[in-house]
Amino acid sequence: CEKLSPQNTLRGKRVIVTAGGTREAVDPVRYLGNRSSGKMGIAIADEFAKAGAQVDLVIGNIDIAIPNNELIKVYQVTSTEDMLAQVEKLFSASDCLVMAAAPADFKLKNSINQKIKKKPGQTDLVLELTQTPDILKTMGKRKDQQIVVGFAAETENLLVNAQAKLERKHADMIVANDVSSGVFGSDKNQVYILQKGLEPVSWPEMTKKGIAKRLVNLIGKKM
Ligand code: CTP
Ligand code: CA
Repeated sequence: CEKLSPQNTLRGKRVIVTAGGTREAVDPVRYLGNRSSGKMGIAIADEFAKAGAQVDLVIGNIDIAIPNNELIKVYQVTSTEDMLAQVEKLFSASDCLVMAAAPADFKLKNSINQKIKKKPGQTDLVLELTQTPDILKTMGKRKDQQIVVGFAAETENLLVNAQAKLERKHADMIVANDVSSGVFGSDKNQVYILQKGLEPVSWPEMTKKGIAKRLVNLIGKKM
């Protein structure tokens, strides 16, 4: 029975929210990306601003309009490494980090400076990939006063995998959701909230806006 955040309860607080998918260059005209729309992260940024917090919104690629609110400062990034660098710059002045973005997990092991051309007779192309840095884990290990919140996007063993992420990434909270059917770009979602030392809590299916409100209220109480 959490109440909706009244205005200005988070005035004086500063939060980082990341949203959207990052992209890793393959060659000068191509990239590796994912289907994140940015809707969840932007809804969270909006709710934090409505509650009076100053928001640093770090966005990768998003499918919706960037919110225009004087409390929201937008930082546009491309790759996962760019997103990490931006979050690192903002982190020490922040009270909270919400990693709602979908950073690309892999990038090309060796960058390709010219457009890849099809060779005569070629049917296959093999690209060697290597892992990008884990932003949530990096900041989770480094946090002091900050509340660090992550998401877990799973297609199987949702709660087990999400619990493992909570621990592995030193997060205070994980918002877990099943992405096997139609979450990307959708207005609605059903999530579980996992916190250290507490049983997972299931929230009913809600709009992403509704989830954002409830989440900001819950995080606000911890800050
Ligand atoms: N995340 C991150 N940096 C990455 C990858 C993910 O900060 N390079 C964050 C996401 O923003 C999210 C959380 O970690 O808050 C979990 O992301 P998810 O994709 O569910 O998990 P991964 O750790 O990437 O593991 P996997 O994709 O293999 O399940
Ligand atoms: Ca991932």
